[in-house]
Amino acid sequence: VTLRRKGSGRYLWACCPFHDEKTPSFSITPERGIYKCFGCGKSGDTINFIMEHDGLNYLEAIRHLAQKYGIEIIEEQQSDEQAEKQNEKDSLFIVLSFANEFFKEKLKQSDEGRSVGLSYFKERGFNEKLIDKFELGYSLNEWSALHKEAESKAYSEELLEKAGLLVVKSEDKKYDRFRGRVIFPIHNISGKVVGFGARTLKKDDKPKYLNSPESEVYHKSKILYGIYQAKHAIRKEDNCYLVEGYTDVISLHQSDIDNVVSSSGTSLTEDQVKLISRFSKNITVLFDGDAAGLKASLRGIDMILEAGMNVRTVVFPEGEDPDSYSQKLGTTAFKQFLADNTVDFIKFKAGLYADEASKDPIKKAASIKEIVGSIAKIPDPVQRAVYLKESSSLLDIEETILLAEMNKLLFKEKRQQSDIAKRQQEERGASIEAFIEQNTEKEPINNDKLISLQERESVRILINYGFNDIEEEFKLCNYLLQELEDVSFITPIYKEIVDIFKEQLAEGRVVDSQYLIANGSPEIKKEVADLVTERWEVSPNWNDKFQIFVPEEDDVLESVVLSNVLRLKFRVIQKLIADNMAKLKVATSEEEQDQLFKIHAELKKSEMEIAKALGIVVTR
Ligand code: UTP
Ligand code: MN
Repeated sequence: VTLRRKGSGRYLWACCPFHDEKTPSFSITPERGIYKCFGCGKSGDTINFIMEHDGLNYLEAIRHLAQKYGIEIIEEQQSDEQAEKQNEKDSLFIVLSFANEFFKEKLKQSDEGRSVGLSYFKERGFNEKLIDKFELGYSLNEWSALHKEAESKAYSEELLEKAGLLVVKSEDKKYDRFRGRVIFPIHNISGKVVGFGARTLKKDDKPKYLNSPESEVYHKSKILYGIYQAKHAIRKEDNCYLVEGYTDVISLHQSDIDNVVSSSGTSLTEDQVKLISRFSKNITVLFDGDAAGLKASLRGIDMILEAGMNVRTVVFPEGEDPDSYSQKLGTTAFKQFLADNTVDFIKFKAGLYADEASKDPIKKAASIKEIVGSIAKIPDPVQRAVYLKESSSLLDIEETILLAEMNKLLFKEKRQQSDIAKRQQEERGASIEAFIEQNTEKEPINNDKLISLQERESVRILINYGFNDIEEEFKLCNYLLQELEDVSFITPIYKEIVDIFKEQLAEGRVVDSQYLIANGSPEIKKEVADLVTERWEVSPNWNDKFQIFVPEEDDVLESVVLSNVLRLKFRVIQKLIADNMAKLKVATSEEEQDQLFKIHAELKKSEMEIAKALGIVVTR
């Protein structure tokens, strides 16, 4: 954009590149590096500007700016492999650019280029300006003109081959891919040459166009011929003309229509539609005037509708394509022709089938299906309704019939989607069932009973040995209560006793059996009395008689305590696992189920750890 300062103001002003205007309302504040248009409201910083202006994403914009101003970007996250790929891409761009310059130079500077190539372009009505704009070129009719030149400049053969410029059949059979043809370089969105289309100049030579093969930088499904030269105009006009061939694009530019791209003779891909939609949501498809190909190409258009784009069409007279017809009519008449013949796609399609159906009633049902099928692709329901109404009058069929037909299609699609969802849900349900089955005991053990037994043991140890020193200033009851801090007892009487221990310990006192018998409830007294009475006295004769050493509990106290803590926790965890499984059995939402799975995994981990410490093997 051309910037101007108004008086001594802080701002620089220009006509906005994002909308059409005659007086500048686009402002730049240099010291802050920002722009704002008071006309269309677009604003941002340098990078936003490049993104918006050139239709690049954030990274592409950064790379573009860095390259323009010679700033090296170090991409830290890049792996070696990525770096190598980037290197290869850069090398390809360089060699393609070299070839492009070579072809351009040969077109204008060599005798052969001028007499054959340049005169051909002139004959087709391409002026100098267009030739430069599209960087058209010429490849000499020799086997290795480019190869030799590349060699002298030390480009590797491997690179030339990868770029599709050199055909290598064997060690001594290598030749230039493009020979004696006029060259149409293909640019990517930021203007770099990624490949070439090369047209023969002989009448019956095949193929008419020889194209570069795919490469690391040339993915045919993602590139549109002419997008680089058209992108600004597409945004300004808020419309993109779609044509079939290279020459159609150039001729439209000649007719002062710059918002045009070509799919290069193949049907449009989703990526290509996305590329266009960066600049406009409106596509006008220009159909060559041969009826045979018309219906086949209509199918491809449903994909554009599906992308939410508005599609219009222009059909050219029999035997004409946009190139020939624009040359024939001249700029003004051609623009008028486009204006008069642009038809909304659905209307156009309905009209086409209505004609046919009126001649052949049997075809009517099929026609309805065709048109309704296209309408059903449109994501916006309001727009669908409008089209349905229009088609109803064009086809002379009641709207309700069309609506029923469309709903059938939409419903079918929805059902297919929900069928998939349902099947996935069923599969998930089945696998959860199997999971629960696997993780549930066949004959359930009474966890509560086992836990209660271990709780009793804890309390017994506390009452009998709580006073024992484990270390200096560290009594057994400190240790045990600390270990069981995160376990809440389920048997009321044991919970009550443990709570008394905790309360007293907080006051610095260690409870013993006497304290409990003196202060406890009748139930506590009874329980304590039971717990302090040795169950089982080692018969004094045993040791002598059987030479078996039965250790006094005092001797192995630490391992007794540890084993009790572990066993109690082990049982508690198994109970938690079982409870969790029970919850999973009745859980309905996936979110809930996933949460329970997570808990299960955690519990299993703990169970394993404890089992290992206890020397137990968990079978499940
Ligand atoms: P056309 O055969 O319509 O050629 O193919 P054209 O663009 O009108 O070219 P002129 O006017 O005869 O010179 C349309 C497009 O299909 C691709 C090219 O992209 C061409 O522009 N094509 C066609 C090929 O890639 N190879 C071919 O052999 C033919
Ligand atoms: Mn043509």
